[in-house]
Amino acid sequence: MTDPNTRTLSTGVALPLVGFGTYLIPDAEAAAAVRTAIELGYRHIDTAEFYANERGVGEGLREALASTGLRREDVLVTTKLFPGNAAWGQTPKTTVTTITSLEASLEKLGLAYVDLYLIHAPFERSQRLAQWKGMIELKKRGSARAIGVSNFDVRHLEELREAGLETPSANQIELHPWTQKRDLLRYMEEKNITPIAYSSLAPLSTWRTAEGHASRKTDAMRAEAPFAEMAETYGVSEARLLLRWAIQKGYPVLPKSTKRERMKENADLFSFRISDADMARLDAMERGESLAWPPGDPTQNA
Ligand SMILES: NC(=O)c1ccc[n+]([C@@H]2O[C@H](COP(=O)([O-])OP(=O)(O)OC[C@H]3O[C@@H](n4cnc5c(N)ncnc54)[C@H](OP(=O)(O)O)[C@@H]3O)[C@@H](O)[C@H]2O)c1
Repeated sequence: MTDPNTRTLSTGVALPLVGFGTYLIPDAEAAAAVRTAIELGYRHIDTAEFYANERGVGEGLREALASTGLRREDVLVTTKLFPGNAAWGQTPKTTVTTITSLEASLEKLGLAYVDLYLIHAPFERSQRLAQWKGMIELKKRGSARAIGVSNFDVRHLEELREAGLETPSANQIELHPWTQKRDLLRYMEEKNITPIAYSSLAPLSTWRTAEGHASRKTDAMRAEAPFAEMAETYGVSEARLLLRWAIQKGYPVLPKSTKRERMKENADLFSFRISDADMARLDAMERGESLAWPPGDPTQNA
């Protein structure tokens, strides 16, 4: 029987609804964070070439497998191709360098395969198809059990379809009540592309407040939000309310924290249910604005 707390991708990979995010966790701290997360029950770890912490993530995974007795196949690992961005002075990855990038990531992670490999962003029009062909080859070779994309809009997904290439299994995107991307989600549902939600906690006052973790929202945006008052009626934190909103819609989430208590709290999402009326109130909060990428987000023009 399929675990009800997972969402099955088109390739058959069962993705846990609650995963652990590792963006902004330095390599040296990643092992401890990942080990703790797995010991607390997380069964999906999300990293990326760009996060520069794959070595620590792999180490944490190995430590956790040893301490818990779990097997490699019990914990899913996602990593992402950094596609390169000419606008940032980088050389865009080609089909060949897409393949060698995953090989380098696997070496750092100490793994033979990842469960999901994603193109991090649709930066380069000239190389997007070439990169996607590399991803398809990696899946064929068994280096990735499933392949997908991240931050792709309908036009980027259509480009792959028009080229007659395999459909991505997943698209990892910023999703929370302030950015619900309804047209994109409708398109993805039609094509059986699973949405994976990132930055679910962006509306919180505590989101990315550490030195150098700059966030874009203003206090005025928060002041109007009903999250605190609504969370109180369920006897949960605002973080749990936001994460529950996502999984109740069927979006797997990836909360990141380096604090044990928060990691524990963020995974405790199955003991309450948001009423239909409150889901509708949260749905009405759409602002059409993503907060996770810096101003002048290059994915908006690619
Ligand atoms: N594909 C992409 O382009 C992309 C972009 C962004 C993120 N992601 C992925 O999605 C993951 C999650 O997104 P994210 O890291 O942007 O943000 P997030 O998980 O939504 O929020 C993390 C922030 O909220 C704080 N926090 C965590 N739990 C909390 C709680 N229970 N109460 C109060 N504050 C809490 C954390 O601080 P502490 O650590 O101090 O607890 C941190 O500042 C990332 O780690 C990454 O794996 C992908």
